[in-house]
Amino acid sequence: MESKPDPSPSADVPTRAAHPPTAPLGPQSLPDGRELVLRVMPLPADVNANGDIFGGWIMAQVDLAGAVLPSRIARGRIATVAVNEFVFKQPVSLGDLLSFYAKVVRVGTTSITVHVEVYAERNPANLQVVKVTEASLTYVAIDREGRPRALPT
Ligand SMILES: CC(C)(COP(=O)(O)OP(=O)(O)OC[C@H]1O[C@@H](n2cnc3c(N)ncnc32)[C@H](O)[C@@H]1OP(=O)(O)O)[C@@H](O)C(=O)NCCC(=O)NCCS
Repeated sequence: MESKPDPSPSADVPTRAAHPPTAPLGPQSLPDGRELVLRVMPLPADVNANGDIFGGWIMAQVDLAGAVLPSRIARGRIATVAVNEFVFKQPVSLGDLLSFYAKVVRVGTTSITVHVEVYAERNPANLQVVKVTEASLTYVAIDREGRPRALPT
């Protein structure tokens, strides 16, 4: 039997009040308080043998999305030094529109750590928003020689 979706938004995923969606959202809404850094729809070439979207493709998109805010802060070249955590919470399907939201959680001397959340919008006739992936990544500002450099103040 299919479980009934919980209509109440969870504590860490506030509903979007400032910009009402064009259609009613499902059990989860897109988050406020985080920056939308990437929106993309996977293609048939990104499907794995199970018919879902290949995890490696999602990881690549998360790496690109996670780099947006650190690039702004570093005002120059950065490199991904670590993927601290990566959780595939729900499978991604063809036709899902993925939105990547990022928040800077730590700024060090040369490094910036970012938390990324990925939401899928699916089934436009009865729109549902599902958190599919969550990750934490660290980027390092680098100089021309690829060595760590201090972040600008
Ligand atoms: C990124 C790189 C230049 C860092 O060089 P490094 O000699 O390891 O640097 P350091 O040990 O001085 O650490 C630099 C910063 O990274 C942080 N860091 C290093 N390893 C880390 C890890 N495993 N997890 C989290 N942070 C880490 C350090 O804490 C430090 O942060 P801080 O200055 O804010 O305190 C080097 O590791 C590198 O070139 N890696 C390959 C990058 C790459 O090819 N990425 C994939 C494509 S972009």
